[in-house]
Amino acid sequence: MPLVAPSLLASNFLRLQEECTMLNESEADWFHLDVMDGRFVPNISYGLPVIEQLRPTTRKLFDVHLMIEEPERYAEAFKKAGADSLTIHYEACRHLHRNIQQIKELGMLAGVALNPHTPVALLNDIIADIDMVLIMSVNPGFGGQKFIPHSLNKIRTLRGRIEERGLSVRIEVDGGITVENAAAIVEAGADVLVAGSTVFKSPDPKETIRQLKHIPGLRTYTV
Ligand code: DX5
Ligand code: ZN
Repeated sequence: MPLVAPSLLASNFLRLQEECTMLNESEADWFHLDVMDGRFVPNISYGLPVIEQLRPTTRKLFDVHLMIEEPERYAEAFKKAGADSLTIHYEACRHLHRNIQQIKELGMLAGVALNPHTPVALLNDIIADIDMVLIMSVNPGFGGQKFIPHSLNKIRTLRGRIEERGLSVRIEVDGGITVENAAAIVEAGADVLVAGSTVFKSPDPKETIRQLKHIPGLRTYTV
């Protein structure tokens, strides 16, 4: 059974409190929080003060996805704002190993995100040091885009590497996930499904979260 991490980017910001209550009452496992700087990606979302204010509304894990340049400048601030897990982009880091160590020393789970064009093989020398790989299945920056089918090959390849080496790294998949394509994504090897529009634009978000969580079908690998 995958973990489900709804992305608040697609929530109604005028009703954030109610959206949090809905997530708390739902089977959602994590809160996925997308931070954009207008440089690494061509969009700006929300940042530290919003995350800090959201923190007391839930005990669920805060899964912060930084789509920003030089994430090392803000790692400590995100820890203070309430992040439990911090995912930084491979493409945004000159010293990825050092940045991963910094996140772990701050007491957070460390994730590395890969854009659609970045091969999973580039993680060979860092994968044993991280808690999670985030496979971007759309180009980062916007919600509501279409899932890129080639992402399934990347998930399979990465799952194979993780199994071969006996690692316990989680695979999170982010972008364009729907109730219809979720089974294929989990079968390919995903552990965590991020879903923005599919959850928040649904007439019954709690039921949609339940459906993502209880996907019928095979599970090739165990977490
Ligand atoms: C995109 C973000 C995603 C986004 C997903 O850059 O990283 O988390 O919110 O949105 P959907 O599920 O609508 O594709
Ligand atoms: Zn995200």
